[in-house]
Amino acid sequence: MKVTIHKLFDYLLETTAADPPECFIGFSLARSPRLGDFLEALDPGLSLDWNGKSFFGLPALRQRVIDQAGLQGRCSPDDVLITAGAAEANYLLFRQLLSAGDEVITEAPGWPQVGVMARAIGTTLREVPRRETDRWRLDPAAVAAAVTPRTKMIFLTNPNNPTGTLIPAEDLHAIARIADQHGLWLVVDEVYAGLEWDGPRAPSIAGLTPRSITTGSVSKALGLQGLRTGWIIAHDRGVLRDAMILRENASEIMNTLGEHIAEIALRPDRLAMALATTRSESRATLEKLDRFVGAEQRLSWQRPEAGLIGLARLDRIDSETLARRLLAAPYRTFLLPGSAYGLPNHIRLGVGGGPETRLDEGLARLSALLKGWED
Ligand SMILES: Cc1ncc(COP(=O)(O)O)c(C=O)c1O
Repeated sequence: MKVTIHKLFDYLLETTAADPPECFIGFSLARSPRLGDFLEALDPGLSLDWNGKSFFGLPALRQRVIDQAGLQGRCSPDDVLITAGAAEANYLLFRQLLSAGDEVITEAPGWPQVGVMARAIGTTLREVPRRETDRWRLDPAAVAAAVTPRTKMIFLTNPNNPTGTLIPAEDLHAIARIADQHGLWLVVDEVYAGLEWDGPRAPSIAGLTPRSITTGSVSKALGLQGLRTGWIIAHDRGVLRDAMILRENASEIMNTLGEHIAEIALRPDRLAMALATTRSESRATLEKLDRFVGAEQRLSWQRPEAGLIGLARLDRIDSETLARRLLAAPYRTFLLPGSAYGLPNHIRLGVGGGPETRLDEGLARLSALLKGWED
């Protein structure tokens, strides 16, 4: 069936067609490096054709992917397929692992791509709620209760988009056991991993059981979304081969230049420095957001634990009405309404981006709008 648009993308499309906003609240990428940051490390003689290239991706990059996920010893570069971002990684897995009539268990709120793909394939989605009153935690018992004889896959994000909540290691292991007992694929989108605010990197799921699969990319923590470089990590070589075969019919092979830049960005010294910089900048911004939410009578939130974004609750205000008024003159400020995630009384806040987002000014304008709000 045809792939249809989800609300988040619909809103983005609509707003990018309007006058450009002057401020952004809720930016979901780390501040992006410039091409010049990589020129010195790039080989000017690099051939941009595809002869002799591995269809699974640049071997050196696949090693870096394993290393950044802390999977040395459990997985090898042969367990990696390079894709056009985590979005393509998820797409390939949905299309090749699921059929019409299957069921997929996922979290709500969660990443909207899942709903779109499930609908296009004719797969039924069983959503397990992440409850705000429980700090948006995902209850493994609720995941277990959602399994039926038709279930084929559990799909989660860790850290969670949009709440910034982490799945504790014991819960992750419990969910992996549930998947294993029922022979389900467990796909965890780890695109936001690497930016955990108070602890180590969220443990990667790949290879934990024969059917545990990780998807990820350099888009978020490294701010390199424009490279369109991501990955699937899976022990099951049949899964990687099937995904690669589907990709051959869409984009054929990888973006060679993107792979080389991503490999440089993931070199241990560069990666450590980039993550340290983003962590310190973003933590400072998180404190600021925390103070902002605390001072606004109409807002409250469960502070995110990782990954640049979080959700704030709006008291008696419809998020889409607020977002549209904030986008219009005189405020000219972008924020994503929670309706994009099926939560009409929330807004997405975020700590990503650099000074270009003009977050302070954006927050001041949001505050002004909220002060004058009439019920
Ligand atoms: C959870 C999640 N998965 C995947 C993506 C897509 O990322 P990429 O740029 O790696 O395709 C996003 C981007 O917003 C995301 O939030």
